[in-house]
Amino acid sequence: MKSALASRESEHKKNAMTTLGCSRVVAGMWRVREWQMSSAELNRFVRESVESGVTTFDHADIYGAGEVEALFGEALRDTPSLRATIQIVSKAGIRPRGASPAGVGVKHYDTSRAYLQAAVERSLQRLKTDYLDLFLIHRPDFLADDDEIADTAQRLLEQGKIRAFGVSNYSTRQFESLRSRIDLATNQIEFSPFELGALEGDLFPALSSANVAPMIWSALGGGRLFSENDEAAARLRATLNSVAQTCGASCWLPIVYAWIFRLPCAPYVLVGSRRMESLRYAVEGLGIALEREDWYAILEAARGRPVL
Ligand SMILES: NC(=O)c1ccc[n+]([C@@H]2O[C@H](COP(=O)([O-])OP(=O)(O)OC[C@H]3O[C@@H](n4cnc5c(N)ncnc54)[C@H](OP(=O)(O)O)[C@@H]3O)[C@@H](O)[C@H]2O)c1
Repeated sequence: MKSALASRESEHKKNAMTTLGCSRVVAGMWRVREWQMSSAELNRFVRESVESGVTTFDHADIYGAGEVEALFGEALRDTPSLRATIQIVSKAGIRPRGASPAGVGVKHYDTSRAYLQAAVERSLQRLKTDYLDLFLIHRPDFLADDDEIADTAQRLLEQGKIRAFGVSNYSTRQFESLRSRIDLATNQIEFSPFELGALEGDLFPALSSANVAPMIWSALGGGRLFSENDEAAARLRATLNSVAQTCGASCWLPIVYAWIFRLPCAPYVLVGSRRMESLRYAVEGLGIALEREDWYAILEAARGRPVL
């Protein structure tokens, strides 16, 4: 029984990996503008990430009002050979208020055919590439027409402008509704010891049964895990430290990632840091198979109470 389960899990992981072609640790580019890196520094960051086993880079058209994609495209301009070694993820569907190309008077979601097609083309121009490896709808649009989204995605796939299609921040019902019309490669969602909704609700089980691996954003609570004046963060760090010692990990950080990678839905995990060592801690976490008791100790610290 145990070996049948293990082989089913490993088959699932293999399928999920093959479908997406992304690295399990993904570099999140949301905060790149804050990093204030020159083009040469960002180019080095990308090359060192790839050397560390992180080949996938997560963008969105709205990051830095388009500036993040443009900085990334510029940083890769002088080493065009890099493009074939990396996977670029980008998202669209949120129209911000203001003067950017997609800007509007009232911030809203737009998943209409015309908007998504134009948004992908703008992303490709900024990133100086012919295709996105994965394109996601950034947030569910309350006025969405799923048939229209599926047709648009299918067309983008046929045009070769995107190589895979998925969603982000979709509920289980929203995911199932769109997936009945077109294959979805992933659902990029928030999950961390501070945000347990996907685990405690039906999101993870539903993705597992669809054989789709989620991509996790804000795994460190967007940096909250480092906070000094936060009781929950301090409690978590204490438990993570103690598990790190048991596992012989280099510090508590790989343990957070190991905790997420231990989930049966075989997630991809985004790291939102400018520090190369943070990416390496996540890669280290991928190699740590947490014992059940350690995994539950971290859940207990996350909830602040034992399991029933
Ligand atoms: N689909 C969506 O709706 C959505 C929403 C949010 C984010 N995302 C994606 O997910 C990615 C990750 O999200 P996130 O940035 O919130 O994730 P995160 O990895 O939970 O948090 C990143 C923050 O933690 C800090 N940090 C990480 N390692 C550190 C270390 N060793 N020491 C001190 N501080 C450290 C970073 O600062 P330093 O840079 O100084 O290390 C940064 O401020 C984003 O870049 C974006 O691509 C997607």
